[in-house]
Amino acid sequence: MLFSFFGRRKKTDFDEDIFSPDGTINCRFYLEAGHVGYMVLKNDNVLIEKSTLGLEFQGEKPMGSGLRLVRANRKTINENWKTIVGEDVEIKNNYNEVAFYLAEDNAGRLITIRFRVFNDGVAFRYEIPPQPRFRRLIINDELTEFNIDNNALAWHIPAYQPDRYEYNYSSSPLYELTNSVHTPLTIKLAYDSYVSIHEAALYDYGEMTVKIDKWRALKADITPLSDGAKAYVDLPFNTPWRVVMIADRATELIKNRMVLNLNEPPREDFSWVKPLKFLGIWWAMFVGEWTWAPGERHGATTEHAKEYLASCKRLGVDGLLIEGWNNGWDGDWLQNGAFTSFTKPVGDIDFEEIAKNAKDNNINLIAHHETVGFVDNYEKQLESAYQYCAKNNIHYVKSGYAGSMLTIQNKKEFHHSQLGVRHYQKAVELAAKYHIMLDVHEPIKGTGIERTWPNLLTREGARGQEYEGGALSPSHACILPFTRLLAGGMDYTSGIFDLTNATKRIASTLARQLAFYVTIYSGMQMVSDRPVFYETKYPQAYNFIRDVPVNWSKTVPIIGEIGQYYVVARKARAADDWYIGGVTNEEPRRVHLSLGFLDDGEYKLEIYRDAEDAHYRDNQLSIVIEGKKVNKNDSLDLWMAAGGGFAIRATKL
Ligand code: NOJ
Ligand code: CA
Repeated sequence: MLFSFFGRRKKTDFDEDIFSPDGTINCRFYLEAGHVGYMVLKNDNVLIEKSTLGLEFQGEKPMGSGLRLVRANRKTINENWKTIVGEDVEIKNNYNEVAFYLAEDNAGRLITIRFRVFNDGVAFRYEIPPQPRFRRLIINDELTEFNIDNNALAWHIPAYQPDRYEYNYSSSPLYELTNSVHTPLTIKLAYDSYVSIHEAALYDYGEMTVKIDKWRALKADITPLSDGAKAYVDLPFNTPWRVVMIADRATELIKNRMVLNLNEPPREDFSWVKPLKFLGIWWAMFVGEWTWAPGERHGATTEHAKEYLASCKRLGVDGLLIEGWNNGWDGDWLQNGAFTSFTKPVGDIDFEEIAKNAKDNNINLIAHHETVGFVDNYEKQLESAYQYCAKNNIHYVKSGYAGSMLTIQNKKEFHHSQLGVRHYQKAVELAAKYHIMLDVHEPIKGTGIERTWPNLLTREGARGQEYEGGALSPSHACILPFTRLLAGGMDYTSGIFDLTNATKRIASTLARQLAFYVTIYSGMQMVSDRPVFYETKYPQAYNFIRDVPVNWSKTVPIIGEIGQYYVVARKARAADDWYIGGVTNEEPRRVHLSLGFLDDGEYKLEIYRDAEDAHYRDNQLSIVIEGKKVNKNDSLDLWMAAGGGFAIRATKL
């Protein structure tokens, strides 16, 4: 029964069950001799055993013991809200909430712990009101545990590393996580259920990484600042939400919308936000044809930009990214971050002329702001850089923070520290003021703030295709949907067709490059290769990229196992079409799909799939493009080659 224990015991020793609206999940909050903690059960199975809660402050005794309950507030929310850009147009937000107001007997300090229990997970946060004795605090540690069976299998990337989030995932039992890893941390429990630990609404606080602590429990490890403090906070202060997503099947995790739901609705009008597909003066630099730096093979010239703009027109792509357009790329660009300019184009590019040409052709330019992590230099110019964009009719910026650390206030700080979080937020908010939409590379991880700031269209924040040429294996794209993508969209830089390039050989088939536009959601999708590959070499395969939308009205994950394969269907937002994407790891496989997700009526399918002899290593380009008529009662058998995939467009007849 709901709230059955409440009031039956002393207020320093009690527990209370908070059930999900459908009654399947039970989060039990407890106070035992003044110590706070929680546990989580689903259908009476324990998912999270008794876990400590609490905070430690500098110069103060820890907070989490000696507490008594003052009062508890309860409410239930059941509402639907609409996204401007996203995987679903309508999102259901349904939870039971209890806020426990706690006070210390001795120190007289106050804290509130607020829980929300959804049908697919549990979230809680600490709320620190102004205290009788002080208004500011230094957080030294967060004691939050997620005490999950240590033998459970987790997919993880390491925290505090020079390449930020850009690592291959490892999978291992939880007990091996003695070094911190990033979230979302997705875990498969012994009895075939899944949880993913993450956070929502990360503002002005260090990112939560997690590790196995000395008590052998998974525990929050808040990213420190260079002086060792985890966060400096002014009261009142709410920590980010600690989130536990829960699912019976891996594919169900993909439907979880808790992270967005735990963020606030926008406070201003964002109807100007528009998702975008874009070409780039970009991959030519990765394969060594052009350079970022000025010189004989400079990519960002007026002539190249005009050629690419003409290709945008012919290909039906509405955006063009130009990298290497500004001062700072010459010499060793990684060393130039302290004096890069974001308002001064280099000599051989007439930026204003290009901007005018783009405007006349209705193409959106995307300005590139590579800061190399020198936040001090960037923040000085931020407002003028955005003004420069506005003046040139530019509404999209791809930013980058490619250093191994950020330079903030002359100190080296982690990208995911409180000062990093603060900078990324400042950039998003100021961009909104100038109606600028962002694609942030080397970002802070996603915690759903794009609900409040929809101009944050996408991020990188994981290993993407720039690592091709040896450092990506086919399983990676079968792990991302169940891990990184639970934190929001990703600019994976899909659509590379030059698969056999000697400098950057791609571990993928051609059909799989198309599949990514469906399997990897992003509010901005790059059409990453050079235009000649779309216009001349593989125009038929390109048709799928031309047709596939960026914005969706509905997402239906169909089948998948983490690291093995994944198939998802999405319905276009602006039309009745459905799109289906599938990817597999190194194993070829045939998958059987029932088409029950389609709406009523007949559909024409355009299927782009691997030919039987395709292979990601040595026969990447072998593709079959074929048609078929179906309705929702039909099913399909589809072949995916090793490291392959498929993409399907279903148009209503
Ligand atoms: C890393 C980014 O991920 C990539 O897209 C960009 O081209 C380079 N940095 C240079 O800014
Ligand atoms: Ca990157």
